[in-house]
Amino acid sequence: MSEKKCSDSSCTKESCSSCSKAKVDFSVAPHPLSHVKKVIGVVSGKGGVGKSMVTSLSAVAMQKAGYKTGILDADITGPSIPKAFGIEGRAFGNEEGIVPVKSKGGIDVMSINLLLQNPTDPVIWRGPVIANMVKQFWSDVVWADVDYLFVDMPPGTGDVPLTVFQSLPLDGILIVTSPQELVSMVVAKAVKMAEQMNIPILGLIENFAYFHCPDNGKDYEIFGKSHIETVALEHRLPVLAKLPIDPALANACDEGRIEEASFDLSLYAGVIGALKQLLG
Ligand SMILES: Nc1ncnc2c1ncn2[C@@H]1O[C@H](COP(=O)(O)OP(=O)(O)O)[C@@H](O)[C@H]1O
Ligand SMILES: [Mg+2]
Repeated sequence: MSEKKCSDSSCTKESCSSCSKAKVDFSVAPHPLSHVKKVIGVVSGKGGVGKSMVTSLSAVAMQKAGYKTGILDADITGPSIPKAFGIEGRAFGNEEGIVPVKSKGGIDVMSINLLLQNPTDPVIWRGPVIANMVKQFWSDVVWADVDYLFVDMPPGTGDVPLTVFQSLPLDGILIVTSPQELVSMVVAKAVKMAEQMNIPILGLIENFAYFHCPDNGKDYEIFGKSHIETVALEHRLPVLAKLPIDPALANACDEGRIEEASFDLSLYAGVIGALKQLLG
């Protein structure tokens, strides 16, 4: 009896008997001295929606909640994590591996900008080279003792993010959107990609959701009406946070003081709760 063939060329589902036989394991082993409990990918449809902001805030919030956190900056062509944390040092390697650089607050960070001679040098590499660099940030970096490692993913669902999805053992994904985007399409694509890789989506975070006017206490939806609740319902995903446009937060990032920024953690309670649940 001939077996029914799967028609989805990108199918990698364990449950698909047709494809699982041919499935190639792309996963990369961590550094032998690494101890990482949970790996969380932060994804977005395009650049500029606040992926790095959410990655940074998540690491800071969980650090403040008493967990050890790290950030793997997988956005090789647009790295912005070292700048947000005011890290100017260079990462160094010893005979064991590459050692992440610690932020002022003790967050372990690895980014291409910590390896370049000059942080303003552009990375002009082709996709496979970039993807390999990200794999090395997992396999060659000693993430010695990290409860939550946040991966600032390259934007979109192209070649590089796909390799990162396949190579790193992601335990969950946070999807960042903004009101200006074609949110339903962005979320649908991310959901499909995550499903194919068998990675759970923890929930959605809407950034730039509104501006809270300090003069009259009113909230203004500067970038238009939000559709996040409808989209979330469609995919049965929770909206973990709606973050306001906060000029103080943008300044803190520009000045390398994201850890010191006064940020209302109650806005982030949904994200913190979802992350805590992962560790049980
Ligand atoms: N909630 C926010 N309020 C104000 N500025 C923000 C907010 N989120 C992000 N930004 C700023 O917007 C810009 C783009 O955000 P970023 O996190 O770098 O986006 P991405 O990583 O998706 O490209 C940065 O300058 C950042 O500081
Ligand atoms: Mg970024």
